Amino acid sequence: MSILAKHGIIERNASLLLVGSLVVVAIGGIVEIAPLFYFQNTIEKVDGMRPYSPLELAGRDIYIREGCYTCHSQMIRPFRDEVERYGHYSLAAESMYDHPFQWGSKRTGPDLARVGGRYSNDWQVQHLTDPRSVVPESVMPSYAFLSLATLDYGTITGKLQANATVGVPYDQAMIDAATRDLIAQATPDADTSELLTRYPKAVVGDFDGNPDKITEMDALVAYLQMLGTLVEFDSYDAEANFR
Ligand code: HEC
Repeated sequence: MSILAKHGIIERNASLLLVGSLVVVAIGGIVEIAPLFYFQNTIEKVDGMRPYSPLELAGRDIYIREGCYTCHSQMIRPFRDEVERYGHYSLAAESMYDHPFQWGSKRTGPDLARVGGRYSNDWQVQHLTDPRSVVPESVMPSYAFLSLATLDYGTITGKLQANATVGVPYDQAMIDAATRDLIAQATPDADTSELLTRYPKAVVGDFDGNPDKITEMDALVAYLQMLGTLVEFDSYDAEANFR
């Protein structure tokens, strides 16, 4: 009997076909999944990544609420045109504290993975308030209302706790100080030494030019200014995990 004729037996017997399919799918599954249990860590470690500060986390929530991700991705692909335009390609570690991640597949506007520090706070606020006043051909909507909306940070402690539950390494001290850290980051001349020990490189300031209240604009700009600035590329060795 030729091998094809033997295959005919499977084709004519539904139960045998089912069992055969399961065996094939199981082999594929094991080959893909089993190695993951033997790696120390599926995400390579990089220096500098830290959980988001409370103000950045609040800003991230506004970013998601306003649907910025419908026009902006946060994932620089390892292609020359992208790397030359946006900077080093994104590392898995850079979105390890994102729940949910913001990779995105739609770019009506540019990728924002490394937009932090590229513009001043004033530029960011001006652009979000009236995009066409700084980029005349822009099709981005105006988010001027964010400067009027007082930031509701009553739930920030719970937000840190929720993130800790899903594995973000917020310790008890960070959770206890969440509200204090949030206020310190958005208040000029505040004592930020503790904030900066917990969240190195956090950009501190009164972002929206209104020192009297902490607005949603303050939180969103604090988040944008952090994007892509955490990883220490000086000490990053892309080959390290393959040795
Ligand atoms: C309708 C699509 C759209 C939405 C929604 C949108 N943007 Fe944009 N965005 C753009 C476009 C197009 C540009 C490029 C032109 C410009 O700079 O305004 C841009 C540019 C930017 C830039 C400058 C990036 C750079 O590298 O020059 C930032 C920062 C930005 N957007 C942030 C945001 C944030 C934050 C939100 C949500 C509050 C948002 N965008 C929502 C379309 C959008």
